[in-house]
Amino acid sequence: MKSQTNITIIVGSQWGDEGKGKITDVFAKDADFVVRTQGGNNAGHTVIVGNETYKLHHIPSGILYPKCTSVIGNGVVIDPKVIIQEIEGLKSRSIKLNLKISSRAHVIMPYHVDMDEALSAFQGKLGAGSTKRGIAPAFADKMYRHGIRMVDMMDENMFKEKLEKSYIFNAKLIACLTGKTLDKSMLEVYREYLEYAKYLAPYIADTSVGLWRALKAGKKILFEGAQGMSLDPDHGAYPHTTSSNNIAPYAGVGSGVGLNAKAKIIGVVKAYVSRVGTSPFVTELGEERAKVLRDKGGEYGTTTGRPRRVGWLDLVQVRQSARTSGLTDIALTKLDVLSGFEQIEVCTHYSIDGKNIWEMPASLTRLRIAKPVYKTFAGWPRFSAEEIQNIIKKGYNALPQNIKTYIEFIENQVECPVSIVSIGPKRDETIIR
Ligand code: GDP
Ligand code: IMO
Ligand code: MG
Repeated sequence: MKSQTNITIIVGSQWGDEGKGKITDVFAKDADFVVRTQGGNNAGHTVIVGNETYKLHHIPSGILYPKCTSVIGNGVVIDPKVIIQEIEGLKSRSIKLNLKISSRAHVIMPYHVDMDEALSAFQGKLGAGSTKRGIAPAFADKMYRHGIRMVDMMDENMFKEKLEKSYIFNAKLIACLTGKTLDKSMLEVYREYLEYAKYLAPYIADTSVGLWRALKAGKKILFEGAQGMSLDPDHGAYPHTTSSNNIAPYAGVGSGVGLNAKAKIIGVVKAYVSRVGTSPFVTELGEERAKVLRDKGGEYGTTTGRPRRVGWLDLVQVRQSARTSGLTDIALTKLDVLSGFEQIEVCTHYSIDGKNIWEMPASLTRLRIAKPVYKTFAGWPRFSAEEIQNIIKKGYNALPQNIKTYIEFIENQVECPVSIVSIGPKRDETIIR
């Protein structure tokens, strides 16, 4: 599978945590730039190299390649305290940081985190089970047009002017919703954030211009999506979504680079589905079977240790991702986790009010009552370490026939080739067809 283009976009095709970090790291080997364009530190991307595990929240998964420049685009919201911890953590592991942050990226303020908490309580059953990192309030302030951008934080007077608007507005809203006052005064926030600004200043740049020039000079750019299609606020299971678009076309908006060239667009699809948070989940397994899959796949929250909801692969969801992102390729991950099951189910379509439905319904009412319609596949035996090495060496054809049947069925159903197959969390446990 040779790339004919200098632009590759990697997106999540489900509810997040599909393995985007791993696939980005694999493709970053050939990239000059790896760019995040949306989301914030609600993302948690894992990269495993040798015995080292890296959990990245703000910083792109290309950071482990010294020749690669990591870029955080204008479409990302950044918590300065969190990114500084991340930078320091990487430095302490001797990673050379080749990082640029867009001057236009918006800043997550402490009252956004408080507001997220208040919103989650207020929204109840219609909430998404937010990560409580302040993501929705930061994006909301951007749209209200009193958000604070990186460039504003670098400018003491402008920062003061903008902070006043944003602080007072949020303080009033929080007081209204919860009766509480903010922990930190405006002056405390101002002083704290000016310190962060000093620390981050060397990384701030007009990344739109830098990336555009790089493209003109024939450099290779890899866009690393966060979250997944069903969390996209336009196309996902609204309102159980996040607050920034994550489908592939947004890569241009969130980086400030017009993508008029043909791109390779990879949708990362986990061989089953996991969900953190609240929403209808059509293929969710009952607790007894869920526990088996959850334990095999290690589907527990990385910071909280909370069990994730899990279920069978849902092709209605993947079909929607293929369409909305214009996928050219699918990277199918965690196939090793399904090994050892006697039978594997794949949801091809839903049954709603007795009708067969092949495309994702927009109506939440209909999504709540959708029933999965499954096709059953024979499973494949558990891989030994030796078998995994053999498959890695020999490639796709060395996979058991039952896996190939399963993969080829998915390709036909969603009309997109599965050209990357991942059979373990490490960089080399990947087959590229
Ligand atoms: P992301 O948010 O999409 O980057 O995914 P996460 O990193 O949050 O979660 C994916 C998890 O699955 C991580 O722990 C990865 O190390 C792991 N992983 C990725 N690909 C594979 C795979 O093919 N097999 C197994 N067993 N684990 C994988
Ligand atoms: P990565 O990039 C899984 C979910 C939250 C919640 C909803 C809204 O690692 O795949 P937010 O904090 O964004 O307002 O939460 O979105 N969510 C994720 N779930 N992986 C993620 O990122 C997620 N980012 C947000 O659980 O349901
Ligand atoms: Mg994740």
